[in-house]
Amino acid sequence: MATNLSPVIVALDFPNSTQALTLARQLDPARCRVKVGKELFTRAGPSVVEELQSLNFDVFLDLKFHDIPNTVAGACRSAAELGCWMVNVHASGGKSMLEAAAEAVQNSIHRPLLIAVTILTSIDNDALRALGFGDSTESKTQHLATLAHQAGLDGVVSSAHDVATTKQNFGREFLTVTPGIRPAGSASADQARIATPKGAVDAGADYLVVGRPITQADEPLSALEQILTEINPR
Ligand code: C5P
Repeated sequence: MATNLSPVIVALDFPNSTQALTLARQLDPARCRVKVGKELFTRAGPSVVEELQSLNFDVFLDLKFHDIPNTVAGACRSAAELGCWMVNVHASGGKSMLEAAAEAVQNSIHRPLLIAVTILTSIDNDALRALGFGDSTESKTQHLATLAHQAGLDGVVSSAHDVATTKQNFGREFLTVTPGIRPAGSASADQARIATPKGAVDAGADYLVVGRPITQADEPLSALEQILTEINPR
């Protein structure tokens, strides 16, 4: 496994392993980590995770498990056995599900970081109301983060805008993983609550999930380097 201090996790949202591995080979495992999500995993399966690991990448398996506690615990165990560096579940699966997930990774030999998804960054207050929830994305995020913290998870996925409050409420050690990252000038696409890389890091985010701004760039490695320079000018 690569050991690196880079906070950037590149989302390999591709329809097959060939495209994902082609992009990964253009990156540097000492300068980022990678994320395998539903599109790629459903098509390519665990072997793409193993191939990325053999290229020295730490892999975040972003399958956002949400099911009954026994099923989610089994899925988390499988992710741990696959050697994933990070895995996630939906906090809205409830307290028992979160506790079962935490216990499953706790008892694994290679314990992955276990992160809870709070409110998706594509959801804004209007979308939340349409789901039947009266509160704001901010208060709902903190409510779900409280459940995750109490169940012993390592942190949450949330918008960069929620990071400062999350750190205030649960302490610096409680990790924050922030998607919806858009360098100035890049398209927001379907993301609703976005932040620049520097904005997210200044807010206290531990990890930035960046997909299209890197994967759709003409030169993915220089797009990554630009983001790293913006975060940490040398
Ligand atoms: O291309 P883009 O930078 O928008 O990619 C963001 C990635 O982060 C996608 O893979 C998406 O599934 C993931 N994600 C997200 N919001 C969350 C959790 C994960 O956008 N709350």
